[in-house]
Amino acid sequence: MTSGRIHGHVLSPRSGGGLRWEPDSALSWSDGLLLDAAGAGELALSEAGLLLVPGLIDAHVHMPQYRVRGRFQDALLPWLREHIWPEEARFSDRPYREAVAAEFRDGMLAAGTTAALVWGSPHDESAHAVLNDLAPVCVRGGDVLMDRNSPPELTRSTEDGLRSAAEHTSQYGARYALTPRFVPTCTTELLRGLGRIAAGSDVLVQTHLAENLDEVAWVAQLHPDARSYLDVYDQAGLLGPRTVLAHCIHLDEVDLQRLADTRTWIAHCPTSNVALGSGRMPLERVLAAGVRVALGTDVGAGPELSMLDVMACFLDMQAAVPGVRPTLALELATLAGAQAMGEGARRGTLESGRAADLVALRLPGGLRRGETPDEVLARVLDAFAGRWEDAVAAVFIGGQRVT
Ligand code: GUN
Ligand code: ZN
Repeated sequence: MTSGRIHGHVLSPRSGGGLRWEPDSALSWSDGLLLDAAGAGELALSEAGLLLVPGLIDAHVHMPQYRVRGRFQDALLPWLREHIWPEEARFSDRPYREAVAAEFRDGMLAAGTTAALVWGSPHDESAHAVLNDLAPVCVRGGDVLMDRNSPPELTRSTEDGLRSAAEHTSQYGARYALTPRFVPTCTTELLRGLGRIAAGSDVLVQTHLAENLDEVAWVAQLHPDARSYLDVYDQAGLLGPRTVLAHCIHLDEVDLQRLADTRTWIAHCPTSNVALGSGRMPLERVLAAGVRVALGTDVGAGPELSMLDVMACFLDMQAAVPGVRPTLALELATLAGAQAMGEGARRGTLESGRAADLVALRLPGGLRRGETPDEVLARVLDAFAGRWEDAVAAVFIGGQRVT
């Protein structure tokens, strides 16, 4: 049913700023797109008292880490070597890859995630798995590139990596994301080659930046002439409005200004940062500099695919930052995510003409008299902490019910 109607309390960021908050209202859609006014389409769900929010959007998640998610470890680099790379190596096997892709897709749908910027494994074929096997979730992403300091079975030559990136770029265009893992595992030659591909196309770029102090020190050792870790990506031509950098915890003011000037996105992943003891991303400095931020689970460092879990952790971790409140968390987990992945004109809000991607959340006891949107959202996050899937009554993508 791509035309339909649902009743509930409508809560959404607006693309022009501010909030849409309409208690006891309805949404309707036709041909998969939201309509202006509540139409007379067939009732899609009869459960009463639901909180209707845009489909949640994960701006940073690793599909091949799904089965090993939440293996808490003291630090990034040993965790990668001991838990992550051995698992990613299994993705050269097609049946394994397809089985995990199906589990991962089902996990996202159960969590209310309707769009995501996804990382594959360091294998050429993985780009196809990411971009073809996760429907109906709206996915952008690609295969990971590494050409140094990584296990032989996950390392491609610089030439092979660049050839495959160029092929995927012409095959998938704006759906594809060039995905160099991070500076320690990517040569300057590889990064610069990717910068040239990015400059001549409309692909996205996604990578990691300054998550952990040992990682930052390693980059300084590998690139003594660079001003900073960010500078290595900058010199390679990899910054810009279609680039999403995960973590960005250890940056100075020059870096933050450069991110703002180039309109580069940060994917802030608070649950992952807790799990790996990476530290707190300095949100107050990031916002003051005018850098754009979306939220990500970073599964498998993040233990859960639920963006509700990420929103709750964000609110906890960044509580002291002025302006941080539940409706900001919702905006970063919907509209900002859509913008970061190049879907900002089509998704991320409940506004007419946009894809009818929405999540109906349960609101225990219904709406209370005079309750504000921040109070309502806080209550949902509180009530379902640790059992996030129970919060999700239904999920629609393009007006089709998927959960
Ligand atoms: N840095 C380089 N690779 C990774 C990864 O897979 N996960 C996280 N959290 N950080 C990384
Ligand atoms: Zn990551």
